[in-house]
Amino acid sequence: MAKKFYIETFGCQMNALDSEKIAGNLCCNAMEPAESPFEADVVLLNTCSVRDRAVQKVYARLGEFRRYKKMRGDVVVGVLGCMAQLEGEKILKRAPYVDIIAGPQKSHAIYALVERSRPSGGARIDLRSDDESGPPIEDGPTRRENPWRAGVTVSEGCSRSCTYCVVPKTRGKERIRSSRNILREIEKLAAEGYVEIMLLGQTVNSYLDREGGNVDFAELLWRAAQVEGIERIRFTSPHPSDFTRDLLDVMVSCPRVCNHIHLPVQSGSTKILRAMRRGYTREDYLEIVQKIVNAPRDISISTDIIVGFPGESERDFEDTLTLMETVRYDSAFSFKYSPRPNTEALDIDGAVPDEEKSRRLTVLQQRQREIQSRINQTYMGRILEVFVDGRARSRVSLTGRTGNNKIVNFDGPETLIGSFARVRITGFGPNSLKGSWLHEQGLE
Ligand code: SAH
Ligand code: SF4
Ligand code: F3S
Repeated sequence: MAKKFYIETFGCQMNALDSEKIAGNLCCNAMEPAESPFEADVVLLNTCSVRDRAVQKVYARLGEFRRYKKMRGDVVVGVLGCMAQLEGEKILKRAPYVDIIAGPQKSHAIYALVERSRPSGGARIDLRSDDESGPPIEDGPTRRENPWRAGVTVSEGCSRSCTYCVVPKTRGKERIRSSRNILREIEKLAAEGYVEIMLLGQTVNSYLDREGGNVDFAELLWRAAQVEGIERIRFTSPHPSDFTRDLLDVMVSCPRVCNHIHLPVQSGSTKILRAMRRGYTREDYLEIVQKIVNAPRDISISTDIIVGFPGESERDFEDTLTLMETVRYDSAFSFKYSPRPNTEALDIDGAVPDEEKSRRLTVLQQRQREIQSRINQTYMGRILEVFVDGRARSRVSLTGRTGNNKIVNFDGPETLIGSFARVRITGFGPNSLKGSWLHEQGLE
């Protein structure tokens, strides 16, 4: 009987794509996915270490698998991804029953590790970095979860050095894929019936394929938008310092490129941005936003924000709030600063107490909810084109997304799942819109 595996994924979209590559690697070797971890012979946790909470979540989960391993001694438990890279053998101190530890650049080598692992026979550890000398990131088998939407690797790693961030340590320096390879994969995905692709890289717009004729990110995006069959193209995350006029021009002129940009700001205070080493000021960032707002296409903007970075005064925090009000983000992911091992920010004075971080986060999230409600209210009565993903959480209605990333819930037949629908907006909340499905054709 084929051996079964189960992968639990933590962290960002790159990690979700890595899990699909790991599943591809295992399926190619005659393994099969299990319905639940407790039916699997091999349980893999693909982990994140961007904040301490992400790491603690993995340890808590490992605790649960310890009991499973006691019941079934032959189960292989693996810890993969960013936390594995960062914590290394330390994981074995807290969870000695772990059989495999491998970093995030090992998606296509997992089967080899599984095969060599012997439960209770000592952990197999592969934390070598492919950083500079390793092979370019090529296509491997990928077992995708969603039949319509696919992530596509543009680059791996990150060559920036934000003082709070572990990603350059876990994923190494930036390595890019050739534009030829990327476009070939997109063509293949289109032929397989995918309608939406998400171009992925930690600073996706720093892309430059010198060997392929100096194809930069704007050019790559434009070429991707020419692939027949792909209706929507998204990308994440662009870095403000690499934002170019050309990129904006492509977003404006290619309808298939979604009219949404996730542009992480992190802070609205130039002093804090400098301490974070983000490479731009508040004014630089607002200038980019102004260009986006002035462009002849309605482009929604979302962001990431960190509160309570060391040295963040009440005034710096106010600067973040006023920036949020100025930009009027369509959505924002906000986090309390989490001190990370071996990062430069550990040496910065002025730690903000945890209660104060929590207070700032609550204030910020409340403001952001108000902004989102105000924005979403303006959608009342409009007719939007929605790609239908499936059943909403309520299970009563369908749910989908617009090009500018608004979630729209509405009643309709299940046959709409996996296709576009026109929906008139009849209600709103801070996080989603409600609407009714229009049978007839035609946008307003
Ligand atoms: N490459 C992306 C971000 C990747 S990490 C970029 O630069 O935009 C995703 C988000 O996690 C970051 O945007 C940041 O807001 C948050 N983050 C990273 N390190 C953090 C830390 N030490 N504490 C709190 N949040 C952090
Ligand atoms: Fe981390 Fe900064 Fe790189 Fe983003 S750009 S992954 S925040 S170092
Ligand atoms: Fe986490 Fe690694 Fe992504 S640290 S956010 S899984 S790059």
